[in-house]
Amino acid sequence: MLLTTAFVFHVLSGALWTGATLYVVYATLPRAADGTLGRPAFVDAAHRLLMITRWTGVVLPVTGAYMVWRLYTPLAALATTRRGWAVLAMLSLWGVMNGLVELGVLRMRREVDPEIGWGRYMAEGFPVDAVAGTGSVPGSARLASVGRPYLLASAGLAVLLLVDAALLAGGVPG
Ligand code: HEM
Repeated sequence: MLLTTAFVFHVLSGALWTGATLYVVYATLPRAADGTLGRPAFVDAAHRLLMITRWTGVVLPVTGAYMVWRLYTPLAALATTRRGWAVLAMLSLWGVMNGLVELGVLRMRREVDPEIGWGRYMAEGFPVDAVAGTGSVPGSARLASVGRPYLLASAGLAVLLLVDAALLAGGVPG
């Protein structure tokens, strides 16, 4: 029962996170880059992606670790079976993609608040209030060009994560 619950929360979180990342990159990044999408809307999309990254960044490793404990003990199974390799790849992709979203949004925020430190960024993210009304704040095209490499790389990793999950779901033999 607990394992089933872990699978449900794990898959829901994975779908929400990869889907949100791909949507932000597909639907908001190009429009921000050409200036069609205003700064507040783009900043809000980036901030919400960051919040989804952080919430699922708790749920995915907790449920994933429980699933490893139930399905891959002794832990040598992670290193010696094909399914174990797929799980290790999942863990690695998750770590790198998390870092890319965090850093990408931080770099965008630093365009607005050059002095912001990690502590305040971790507490606040990139709230839309941070770009409210001041004339000197860079436009959405500038923010998009700073965030673009990080967001594009995150989208690539999201696709790899989905392929990896599909291989596990499709029953890659041990
Ligand atoms: C901390 C990172 C993660 C860990 C430790 C982890 C671990 C695992 C484990 C142990 C399984 C069960 C594999 C099996 O059935 O043999 C699994 C399944 C799955 N994971 Fe992850 N995972 C992580 C991150 C992610 C992410 C970021 C996604 C986003 C797509 C994801 C999507 C899935 C899906 C859809 C399944 C179900 C596959 C199936 O039907 O068996 N996981 N994960």
